[in-house]
Amino acid sequence: MTRGSFVVFEGIDGCGKSSQARRVAELRSAKFVFEPGDSALGAELRRWLLDAATPMTPVTESLMMLADRSHHVATVIEPALAAGTSVAADRFYASTLAYQGYGRGVDLADLEAATDLAIGTCRPDLTVLIDIDPETARARGARRVEDRFESADAHFHDRVRAGYLEMAERDPGHWFVVDGRGPFEEVAGVIDARLDDLPW
Ligand code: TMP
Repeated sequence: MTRGSFVVFEGIDGCGKSSQARRVAELRSAKFVFEPGDSALGAELRRWLLDAATPMTPVTESLMMLADRSHHVATVIEPALAAGTSVAADRFYASTLAYQGYGRGVDLADLEAATDLAIGTCRPDLTVLIDIDPETARARGARRVEDRFESADAHFHDRVRAGYLEMAERDPGHWFVVDGRGPFEEVAGVIDARLDDLPW
């Protein structure tokens, strides 16, 4: 049985990654997954994680994201890949490095060690970073009620974006950066040209 391809879509809130991940999953007959919250346990964790009214330290936030991810890998992602189904994911471990590491200031080496514990060797074949500046992303109009991350200070999303770009630059073989400012179809075309190189 050939293992499925594992492609992850990353970027700051409002970059358009969720729509592109869903589109790619449909186009390539892959399984669409998302984090946090893509399981019964995950949905409970997501509720707490996004609730701006529940104070939480950055380390607690990290560990809850990792608990969701560990469960997600074990019960959803890894079984699909092992059965030969490709997976298109809306966020994965780079989100924790970008948001909790670069954004909140949790030690990156500690987060990487905890990530190893949470997901073992289950790594994406490719991570597509849809890069956009926070101002443009915000102008696209997010949710009515801001969650914990959307209500963070203005520079938070600048730090998250810079973190993503640094990770992509350090590992160009596993990352693909797309300019997310253009129309949906234009961004889709650039992504599809790169994804054609992968076995689906
Ligand atoms: P979503 O809007 O893509 O569903 O993600 C919900 C929020 O959770 C988003 O603001 C990014 C944040 N997040 C982290 O801070 N760390 C993580 O590891 C993940 C998966 C998401």
